[in-house]
Parts: sequence; structure tokens; C-alpha cells
Amino acid sequence: MTRLICVSSGKGGVGKTTVTANLGAALTDFGADTIVLDANLTNPNLGFHIGIPLYPTTLHDVLKGDAHITEAMYIHDSGLRVVPAGLSVDDLKDTAPENLSDVLLDAVGEPDFVLVDSAAGLGDESISAIEASDEVIVVTNPNLPAVTDALKTVDIAEESGTNITGVVLNKIKDHDAELSKDEVESMIGYEVMMEIPHHEKVEEALAQKKPVVHHAPDHHMSERFRVVASDVAGLDYEPDVSDPGVISKILDRFPSFV
Ligand SMILES: Nc1ncnc2c1ncn2[C@@H]1O[C@H](COP(=O)(O)OP(=O)(O)OP(=O)(O)O)[C@@H](O)[C@H]1O
Ligand SMILES: [Mg+2]
Repeated sequence: MTRLICVSSGKGGVGKTTVTANLGAALTDFGADTIVLDANLTNPNLGFHIGIPLYPTTLHDVLKGDAHITEAMYIHDSGLRVVPAGLSVDDLKDTAPENLSDVLLDAVGEPDFVLVDSAAGLGDESISAIEASDEVIVVTNPNLPAVTDALKTVDIAEESGTNITGVVLNKIKDHDAELSKDEVESMIGYEVMMEIPHHEKVEEALAQKKPVVHHAPDHHMSERFRVVASDVAGLDYEPDVSDPGVISKILDRFPSFV
């Protein structure tokens, strides 16, 4: 069954697109049939994080009713499928974010995962993304503004009946002024499924237009993202993938894995 997962935050710049791109890439590498969709309609940039060329048909055309979602799907070399959004201001005209739910339903069936990269804030486009999804991964940073905004996202998800899969606490710099994992969990009321440090490898990967799991697969940052992906997919992943036990668990879950 397809899982529709929205990556949301409230506050901008916390790492939603970074998490979406890396989760999508890692799930694909695990053998899961995965689509990532750029639902940040005003400031889309998922394409830059993954490295896809400018694409003639985008999510904006789909939301306007001018194209089917399959026409706006770009297949990346890795096998990950990407639905980009249009980059021009003109693309925004007559776009109806409330159609996202129907558009996502058209993508249901075949893929294991559809990851929806949400816009920041709590406008129509981010609320539509949460409402259209079955689950939300809340991305936040260890400071009060980010966590306070994350709480609003949690409220909207709860009101919409969208399940909260967990919280990704990103850009941890490990200094005393930061909120701890326990503080974040008690404020948000949901488990922090992964703590991700602030690390220059992420910026370096973005400059290369690659998710860090592809830019530096052996780096510990990539391992973090693979662990989040395995957690989301329910895989008993261990860092040493040469372990035949781990491979067989992945094969059980995703028979297409090779
Ligand atoms: N763990 C990290 N370490 C270092 N830099 C990071 C990390 N996570 C994200 N970044 C950087 O922070 C910036 C914002 O990240 P990203 O675009 O993923 O955030 P966002 O929440 O999607 O932003 P927006 O709200 O604008 O959509 C990017 O330059 C990204 O490379
Ligand atoms: Mg983003």
C-alpha cells in the first residue's frame, strides 16, 4: 500500500527539503518504489536538492488540471521519481493547492512511498499538503521559534486526522543554548525519531545538486539519513549493509530490491 508522507515544519529553512530529498534517495536505494513531490508551490527547490534538469511539465500544470501527474514525473538516474514544481511566477497563476489531495490519489497504488515536500508557514499550500497526506514527518531545529512553529503543524495534522510519524530534529550544533531532545519531545508531544547534526556536508551536497546520501554515501551524515529512512520504512537497518541478515529483511519488505 502506498504511504503518502508529508514533510512539514511550520518554520522555514529548518531542513524539510533536505530531509525529503535524502529520505527519498535512501528509500529508493533500499529498493522502495518512491516518488518525491515538490508541494512548495511558491518557493520550490526540491529539484536543486536532487539534481534534475528543468522539466517542461510540473506539479503546477497538474494542479491547474492541464496535465496528469505521470506527465510531470521525472525519473532520476537513481530510480527515484520526482514531481517538480514550476519555478516561474507565472506558474503560480490559477494554481489550486486544494487539488493536491486528488493529485496524490492519482499517484496512489503502485509506489511504496510518496514524499510530499511542504512549504513553510501555515498557508493554503502547506495545510493542503498535510490534509492530502496520511502521515506527517515534522522537521524542526533545537530552538524555541522552530519548535513553537512545529507545534502549530502538529495541531493542524491532529485536526486533519493525519498521523504524526515522528519528529526529525535537524541542524544540531551541540551548544548549551540549544533545546535538548527531551525538551523538544515534551514540548511537541511526539518522539524525536532522529537527531541530525548541522554539518557542512549538507551544503556541499546541495552545491553539487545531490542528496548527501549520494554525494557522500560513506559519510556519517548519510548514515543518519539512511537510519531515518529505515525507521520510516520499518526496516531493521544496521549500518553494515554487508550483513546478510539486514539484506534479507530489506528483501522481505521490498522484493524489487537488487
Ligand atoms: N543538517 C544540516 N546541516 C547543515 N546545513 C543544513 C542541514 N539541513 C539543511 N541544511 C541547509 O539549510 C538550508 C535550508 O534547508 P532546506 O532547504 O532543506 O530547508 P526547508 O525547510 O526546506 O526550507 P524552506 O522552508 O525554505 O522550504 C539549505 O541550505 C540546506 O543545505
Ligand atoms: Mg524547502
